[in-house]
Amino acid sequence: LGVSRHTVTTAYGHLAAEGFLDGRRRGGTVVSDLVALREPYTWSGPVLDLPPAGFTEEILFDLRPGTPDPRLFPITEWKRHARWAVDHHEAGYGDPAGITDLRLVLARWIAKSRGVDASFRQLMVTSGAQQAFFLLIAARTLPGDTVAVEDPGYHRFRNVVEAHGARVAPVPVDEDGIVVEAIPPEAKVVYVTPSHQFPTGVTMSMSRRLALLKLARDQDTLIIEDDYDSEFRYVDRPLEPLYRLDRSGRVAYVASFSKTLSPALRLGYVVVPPELLSDILDLREQVDWAPSQVDQLTLKGYLAVGEFERYLRKTRRIYQQRHSLVTDFLRVEATRHSLQPVASNAGLHVATHLNAGAETVLCRALADRGVAVEGLSTYFAGPTATGGLLFGFGQTNADQLQEALEIVGDVLNRV
Ligand SMILES: Cc1ncc(COP(=O)(O)O)c(C=O)c1O
Repeated sequence: LGVSRHTVTTAYGHLAAEGFLDGRRRGGTVVSDLVALREPYTWSGPVLDLPPAGFTEEILFDLRPGTPDPRLFPITEWKRHARWAVDHHEAGYGDPAGITDLRLVLARWIAKSRGVDASFRQLMVTSGAQQAFFLLIAARTLPGDTVAVEDPGYHRFRNVVEAHGARVAPVPVDEDGIVVEAIPPEAKVVYVTPSHQFPTGVTMSMSRRLALLKLARDQDTLIIEDDYDSEFRYVDRPLEPLYRLDRSGRVAYVASFSKTLSPALRLGYVVVPPELLSDILDLREQVDWAPSQVDQLTLKGYLAVGEFERYLRKTRRIYQQRHSLVTDFLRVEATRHSLQPVASNAGLHVATHLNAGAETVLCRALADRGVAVEGLSTYFAGPTATGGLLFGFGQTNADQLQEALEIVGDVLNRV
């Protein structure tokens, strides 16, 4: 080749170091057996980017519940605080409970907005409500333990319970919230959404709240209070949270910014009962240590200057208008069809009852017209699923909502 001996030995050295050649003592150098490299591993199972089940049709109007309007996100203010946070966050892992300044601001916020009087030392910043559920269940249950949940209820909470090997005990919900007498005595944990039951939208009555707290005290049960949707209440003031009424330290108060700002932020928090605090901190270190300090600092800046409060006032007015459009529509339709709206004055969706057969037919017919809705029956865990439709209004503005409801009216007339 006309190259020097040094070049050749260097090339051999590289090839041997990368595993392409095997050097044998006195046996020269041979090409390695590269069968493993010739046959790369290929995955023949399903890929992860499948379209969401049930909606293969084009969606013109998305009335599925659960997401706030991304067009309302306070992008300018958030960017301003994010820029500041990038410059000012501290290097290092930080506190697994979250940045102290943010926890102080959050403690002030829940005291002001919900009357929840908790020390910042009990408050942990989490990656959404979901992580708070995970930590609480991991800290409080062993495989085989019973966890009572509202039925219908939040499926993602049930998934956490099952993943830990605990048993889900579905408990019926009526117009006063969870039926406390039906909670099994062996339940170690009860999960509830008292401000706005998910998905029916009923508010837990004061007498039920007191009965649930009594049960927790008598049976040493942990109550997980998911204060879901308390920020979007349109008519009256929300009732006092269980946490505030509790006198025995048995309530874990969970809140999230997923409905108020965006689920994409993955920011929430939990007020942990003192006896669980050290276990939860240990678990937190194992899971992910803490959320991004830049995101935490951004949120702190946004909350501290009162912008979040102003934003809530503005968005509450917008959602209230959409809520009225849906409830007025349903009131008229209910007189003509078997559709029975659940009385609700909060949140980003309205639930209605129907018979189970009608639910499937209507979901299908609406999907054919480009309107995506969710059926109530899909949220039941127990054997007594009843039918219904959930009309979400987080993702459509008032004009789009009006158009979508006209299609719903038309479909209801034809089916
Ligand atoms: C009942 C309920 N709780 C909490 C959440 C918020 O969960 P996360 O904070 O994990 O986004 C949701 C979101 O859909 C919900 O439906």
